[in-house]
Amino acid sequence: MIGIVEGGAGDIAAMMHIMHDAFDPRFGEAWTAAQCLSTLVLPDCQLLLAKDDGDICGFAMSRWVFDHQELLMIGVARRLQGQNIGKLLLSETIHQARNAGRTKIFLEVRDGNNAQGFYLKSGFTPIGRRKNYYKNAVGIDPDAITMLLEL
Ligand SMILES: CC(C)(COP(=O)(O)OP(=O)(O)OC[C@H]1O[C@@H](n2cnc3c(N)ncnc32)[C@H](O)[C@@H]1OP(=O)(O)O)[C@@H](O)C(=O)NCCC(=O)NCCS
Repeated sequence: MIGIVEGGAGDIAAMMHIMHDAFDPRFGEAWTAAQCLSTLVLPDCQLLLAKDDGDICGFAMSRWVFDHQELLMIGVARRLQGQNIGKLLLSETIHQARNAGRTKIFLEVRDGNNAQGFYLKSGFTPIGRRKNYYKNAVGIDPDAITMLLEL
């Protein structure tokens, strides 16, 4: 049974396990533990965790400034992808943002990442492109597509 709960800095080890499993290391999208920790200690930040019978199997991390929220990162354990866990995490993120009075959710997704289809299904629309946004070891430096959901 999958449940969505609030997480915090103490969940970073489990979250990093999912991060490394979910993201292809070739593209430079995954954050380091230090980047996650430095974000999670900020007050205007939220970590939602998907738990499968108590085990963390997905996460969504957001931050906000006034009424604009940014979805920083979402990931689901590879073996459980395609089973609506990402949708649960994203729906709960949207639900809580709306209840908090936020009016927009932005995100960046790598050009070529199939997750764009996932976001389109939840109502996000592409609004811009950031050239060579992602930095990686093999020098591909893919662009990011900025997407927006109006709440
Ligand atoms: C993107 C991700 C979070 C989606 O989570 P998921 O649990 O696999 O997705 P779900 O099963 O909840 O899918 C929800 C909906 O999105 C659709 N969807 C999911 N992945 C999709 C894809 N790659 N392309 C098109 N549609 C997709 C599903 O078909 C489903 O549609 P439905 O509501 O009509 O049934 C997950 O695949 C993942 O962790 N990917 C790797 C990390 C990543 O790239 N994160 C995003 C960038 S930050």
